[in-house]
Amino acid sequence: MNEPQRVYLPFAEGDRTLKLGLKPLKVEDWIEIDNQFVPYLQRKTELLETNHSEVFASLPGTQSAQQEVLDLLVDHLLQQFPELYDRTSESITIRATDQTWKNNQFQPLDLAGRLVQEDLCLMQPRDRGYILTAASLCFPLRWRLIEKLGKPLMQIHHPVPEYLEQLANPVDRLFDRLKVDRPVCRVNWSIVETPELHLGHQSHSSNAPLELTPDDL
Ligand code: HEM
Repeated sequence: MNEPQRVYLPFAEGDRTLKLGLKPLKVEDWIEIDNQFVPYLQRKTELLETNHSEVFASLPGTQSAQQEVLDLLVDHLLQQFPELYDRTSESITIRATDQTWKNNQFQPLDLAGRLVQEDLCLMQPRDRGYILTAASLCFPLRWRLIEKLGKPLMQIHHPVPEYLEQLANPVDRLFDRLKVDRPVCRVNWSIVETPELHLGHQSHSSNAPLELTPDDL
């Protein structure tokens, strides 16, 4: 596995303003694989077996866009991490977990999600702006895919304070201006009280405030 892990400290700059916070992304940095690769992938497999409709969903008519993501991802993985994956004309194998998935065993984005630690969300342009058309979402931070599928960015962010006033327009404009050969990335951070990765299904209104002091961190 790749070590050392990359460290993200977006709060270290001390800037608490709500902003796009985009940085250019080098294509070779798109996917990260760290020493949690095996447990993450195992947890994904478990969730996809026991709770599939909660962690994978897609709208009809999204197969070709999903396939585009899968093809891009597999080419990228084989190029960046040739020691970790094996591809044949019919299947792809993840060596570290000893898992082999057939090319057509799942929907393309479902298969893509099983190959990496990240969740994958597919946004596509429609009349109402960019909408969430498919996702493999095993590790959400307390949101449910089924409540967001088919919705545009503004509605997806409905519970986020200040989003409408400060971020909605810049985010919509950003999506309209995105360039294929100029990927960007951004980081959000949160503190949670559990090591569990699948934090779905808890609405903001039911979030009990958690009292933390610096000694707890
Ligand atoms: C530049 C683009 C984006 C910006 C600036 C942005 C900004 C934010 C911010 C500030 C939050 C609140 C963070 C928190 O409470 O932890 C948030 C939450 C969220 N974002 Fe984004 N976001 C962007 C793109 C996206 C995209 C493409 C999706 C597609 C799925 C998305 C889905 C969500 C969801 C589901 C939440 C949680 C909402 C909830 O609590 O119900 N965001 N976003």
